[in-house]
Amino acid sequence: MDIAEIAAKLERLNPRVAAAAERLAVAIPAVRSRLDREYERMLAAMEPAVKPYRGQAASFPRLPAHGVPREELLRQVQDLAVRERPRWRGGLVSGAVYHGDDDHIAFLNRVYAITSQVNPLHADLWPSATKYEAEIVAMTAAMLGGAVGGDAADDPRRQIVGSVTSGGTESILLAMRAYRDRARATRRITRPEVVAPATAHVAFDKAAQYFRIKLVRVPVAADHRADVAAMRRAVGRNTVALVGSAPTFPHGVIDPIEDLAAIARQRDIGFHTDACLGGFVLPWARRLGYHVPGFDFQVPGVTSMSADTHKFGYAAKGTSVVLYRGAQLRSFQYFTASDWPGGLYFSPTLAGSRPGALSAMCWAAMVATGEDGYLEASRRILETGAAIRRGIQAIPHLRVLGDPLWVIAFTSDTVDIYRVLERMRRRGWNLNGLHRPAAVHLCVTLRHTQPGVAERFLADLQGSVDEVLAAPAAKEGVAPVYGLAATIPFRGMVHDLLRKYIDLLYRP
Ligand SMILES: Cc1ncc(COP(=O)(O)O)c(C=O)c1O
Repeated sequence: MDIAEIAAKLERLNPRVAAAAERLAVAIPAVRSRLDREYERMLAAMEPAVKPYRGQAASFPRLPAHGVPREELLRQVQDLAVRERPRWRGGLVSGAVYHGDDDHIAFLNRVYAITSQVNPLHADLWPSATKYEAEIVAMTAAMLGGAVGGDAADDPRRQIVGSVTSGGTESILLAMRAYRDRARATRRITRPEVVAPATAHVAFDKAAQYFRIKLVRVPVAADHRADVAAMRRAVGRNTVALVGSAPTFPHGVIDPIEDLAAIARQRDIGFHTDACLGGFVLPWARRLGYHVPGFDFQVPGVTSMSADTHKFGYAAKGTSVVLYRGAQLRSFQYFTASDWPGGLYFSPTLAGSRPGALSAMCWAAMVATGEDGYLEASRRILETGAAIRRGIQAIPHLRVLGDPLWVIAFTSDTVDIYRVLERMRRRGWNLNGLHRPAAVHLCVTLRHTQPGVAERFLADLQGSVDEVLAAPAAKEGVAPVYGLAATIPFRGMVHDLLRKYIDLLYRP
């Protein structure tokens, strides 16, 4: 019996009983070593996919005694990049690369080449970096309903400020830390809680772990959007903020932000809209005539937002923007030190030294794209999203979840959706497996708007469903791993497996 079979057998156990049984069981040496062998077996099956270059490319488990010539290394890096390029470039990947046109990449690379030494930590040496970052924040704030410049001067609550961070996760971490520390300073809350729908990004769990915040996860409604009444009931004396997504990562649906933010406003607590995925699409979708409910700073109760420039902002990987209503709230994310022998120190975000070149590229990407560029990109993405959604709906046995625009999640009531995922993988597709409920999603990017890509996706999806229907149920590829994670009541085992997977990534 392997882990998946054990999990299937234990599925019906009460989760609390299962957790207690797990703790007892794994303390028994024989069970522990059996489990470890099982993990090794599962990881060995995954290894070829994540370590394809073993024996194929030069490897350096320790420093070479003599430096390798630069030209040789450029050849090696080029060789690996060329092997990896076709999949993401051809549009076979969900999300991940949001623009990816050659001329766009070449332009950003030129900006990187000019600015690779810039470190915003030294604002006196590189005031250019602070110029880029201040403008990135201002442009994003203006796009997301913020009053900027003179408009905001008379009303600090309308003044939207923010920081450039390293990505969506850091933007979320910082906002959660700001709410925690504001509540501690102004309301003496020592056991802070944040209320979030079950579908809000896992970065909120990370923030809760890092900053000792209790994250209250609230099940979503049948349409996969936040359940407003349940969210209201979950607010307590220690709640410092509520969260909603525009849209959610799993199902691409927009939470009822206006209703949720109204609750926050009533209770005089914070409300964070996670627009990491939608911040650079929804404003343009609205202009294009799509129905986009309120989600940004035009909604009075929204007090912070995250919007990822390195997704649909079309910057290179490594930047995002966190925004706040009012400078006072932002100041709670800052770090300052006055007693360190190294001198007076301050940093706005988690890192100390930072890659200013990423901010320069982000600024360049935004200014070069402009309003007309974002509008046109969003039009193409939304039209492709609609075509893919219609196509999935037309495939018997598949069902689209919720009412998505361009992040399309689908499941099946009749076939094992993880086996469909595995068949798509064999056809070269890299889609996201979801669970609770079991589903798969495709996040449409500009890569999918290339001619023929959506058609190929739908044909492959139909083919994959047909294959799963034709082949007898069998454990194959990634399917048992997703099945395991989706059903297993022994959560500790899943965490073990994920940690071992990360260990595997670091093996040379
Ligand atoms: C809605 C949402 N929030 C947050 C994140 C986290 O972003 P990152 O991976 O840049 O840290 C993502 C990433 O996909 C997301 O979709």
